[in-house]
Order: sequence, then C-alpha cells, then structure tokens
Amino acid sequence: MTTKTNVTIYYGPHSWFEKLIERKKSVYLLDAVNDRDESRRKFRHTIDGQEPQENPEPPPRPVNLVASSSDYASIQEHAISNFIGLVREISPKHLLLHNPPEAIHAQTDRVFKSKVIRYEYPVLTRETLMEFRDGFSDHLVGQTNVRERMLAALYQLTTPHRMKPVVVMFYGPSGVGKTETAQFINNLIGGKLLRKQFSMFHSDKFASYLFGGSHGEASFARDLLDRSSGVILLDEFDKANSVFHSAFYEVFDEGVLVDKNYRVDLGPTLIICTSNYGSEEEIRESLGDALHSRFDALISFDPLSKEEMGQVLERLVEAKLSKLSSAERSIIDSESIKTKILSRVSRTGNVRKLSKVVDETISLLLVRTLLNSDSQLNSLEAVGKESES
Ligand SMILES: Nc1ncnc2c1ncn2[C@@H]1O[C@H](COP(=O)(O)OP(=O)(O)O)[C@@H](O)[C@H]1O
Ligand SMILES: [Mg+2]
Repeated sequence: MTTKTNVTIYYGPHSWFEKLIERKKSVYLLDAVNDRDESRRKFRHTIDGQEPQENPEPPPRPVNLVASSSDYASIQEHAISNFIGLVREISPKHLLLHNPPEAIHAQTDRVFKSKVIRYEYPVLTRETLMEFRDGFSDHLVGQTNVRERMLAALYQLTTPHRMKPVVVMFYGPSGVGKTETAQFINNLIGGKLLRKQFSMFHSDKFASYLFGGSHGEASFARDLLDRSSGVILLDEFDKANSVFHSAFYEVFDEGVLVDKNYRVDLGPTLIICTSNYGSEEEIRESLGDALHSRFDALISFDPLSKEEMGQVLERLVEAKLSKLSSAERSIIDSESIKTKILSRVSRTGNVRKLSKVVDETISLLLVRTLLNSDSQLNSLEAVGKESES
C-alpha cells in the first residue's frame, strides 16, 4: 500500500508554529515514537488448539504528525538518520516539522517534496527609527553619541534591498547602558530579545554550541532558528576565546550560520555585540582585523559625567519612592538623600552600582525609623558604611 504524506517545514519561533497547527488533529512525534515502541514490545501468544489471532488492526493514520524544534533532541540518532523510515511507519497524512535539522529537511525533500514556510521577522521601519530617536533619553541619560551612531546603523536595515544583518559592537565600561540600549531597540522592533552571554560558556561546551555537537546538544544555530526577536544580543563578546572568532565570519558577513546539524539564514536583522574594550584600537588588536572589519559600526559608550549621574540618581530615587507606601514615603526626605549619595558617587560613572546605593540608603533609613533604637541604629550604620566603601 502506498500512502501519501504532505510535508510542511516551518522555520521560526515556537509560539508562532504552535498557533499555525491544528492541535486537535495532531499527534506529536515523541508520542508516536513511544506508541510504536510500546506496540513492538507486545508479543503474541499462540495457544495449542486455538487458531492464531489475526494481526491486530494497524492504528489509524494520524492526520498531522508534528515535530517541534526541541523534539529532535529527544529521539535517537538512528531515528534522525532514518527519519523517512520512521515517518513511513507512522504514515501520517501531513507531516509538520518545526525548525528541523538539515539532515531531516534534506531527507524529506528527497522523498516527499516539502513546502517551506518561514516566519517573517519584525522589520525596522522609519517609524521605529523615530521612536528610537525620541524615546532614547527616556531610557538613557547621556550617551547622545550612541543615539546618533545607532540611528545611522539602524537606517541601513530600513532599506528594502538589505538582505544581510547589520552588526554593531558596543564597547565601554560596565553599567553605562550597553545592554539597556539593546533592550530598548528590541522592544521597539518587537519579539523577545535573544540574549547570549558568552562568559557563561566553558570552552568545550562553547565549541559544540557554536559548531554543533550531537543533535541533542544546545546549539547556537538552533537558538537562532527558535528566536522571535529582531535583535540578537551577543553579550560580553570580548569574553569569547579567540579560537571561536572565525565562527562569526559568515554570520556577520552573510547572516548565515551552518553548524553540524542546522542551517540558519538570519536575513536583515540587527546583531549587537557588547564588550568592555576601551578603544577601537584595542578591539582591532583583540579580535583581529578579519573580525574587526566585519562590524558595520563600533560604538563607544562613555562613563557618565557627575551631572549625568545626578540625573540618573534623580530617576532612581523617584522610581524607588513610587514603590513605597505613603507612610514610608513620609519618612524619606528625597532631596537630602540625593545630595548625600551624589557627594559620594565614585568617578566610574557606573549606574548599576548607583542603583544599589540608592536601594541600600533608602532601606537603611526606613529600617532605622522602624526600629528607632539607638543601639541597633549604631550597628546598622556600621553595616551601611561597609557596603558604601
Ligand atoms: N546612561 C544611563 N542612563 C540611565 N540608566 C542607565 C544608564 N546606563 C545604565 N543604566 C542602568 O544601569 C543598569 C545597568 O546598565 P546596563 O545597560 O546593563 O550596563 P552595561 O553597559 O554594563 O550593559 C540598568 O538598569 C540600566 O537601566
Ligand atoms: Mg551589559
């Protein structure tokens, strides 16, 4: 008996795929494989003097057999290499594959002829550029140079013929708004930001993550296939060992990443790398000419000036106060807090530290008033001094 299976392959985020399929009529690949294994384990008895039973009815053909991105990791390597055999056995009317490994795509193409549907990632429009320009100072104090340089870089993504990514490197000290800027632009474009922190990987894991390992292992290409965001944030890019730099050549040039199992075509997307490099010269030296020249823009983030720190402090204190009860708020004299903290602000211009100092100072004031006891107050003061230093 020959049966026909229609194959549709979907490339895009999981939530999008789930919305497109008819769940009621669907059987998931893992369940189908388990059922099959289960029925194989059943063996038949024949009893003397009785006619052997007829073969049991084969299970009805599923309407949709569905495999989503994370399912391939759970089936065994031989089922991947003979995926067609598996599909023929289950014999669904439709096979719906979400972000399959290349090997599976190629097999299904050879045998069934498959249809491919790709998610359309949110695009950057001129309106987005305007929102970026006009909303920037609501999110970030200072860094006006960043705003201008980003507008120029983003503009390239609004041109209709652009097919490859725009790649920018944010560099500068910690806590001055690099990640915040990436988050802000992603919120304007839409989708959930894909953020990969390169310092989180150990070298051996990182190699299989970038170049592909066994099909069950975490993979950068698969994470890219699964993403919903228009922005890809490679945080702490300077922490990646230089042996991995070549993995990014083609990604940055063409937006293409091919690893052992997957292939992804990024198209006109925004890739932001962040680092703590101090200068363009340092970037060229550390990353090498080949990688350095592949960035569309290198954008420097400066430490905030004392005046800018004052503005951030203003925002932080107001934000913190708005979360307190009115009774608590009446205890706090916000002006004196601001003056006190500002006089101690260090010269690093690091906002992350500033926000901790604000939290601690306000908490200390509240707890002092609450306890209102001299002896406890003294010991708390000592704790406060320590954490300030
Ligand atoms: N220029 C800035 N203006 C206002 N808030 C800032 C600024 N820079 C950093 N912050 C705040 O400080 C925190 C750390 O900033 P982040 O962007 O993560 O720093 P990094 O430069 O290390 O990536 C965030 O909560 C962010 O909102
Ligand atoms: Mg950061």
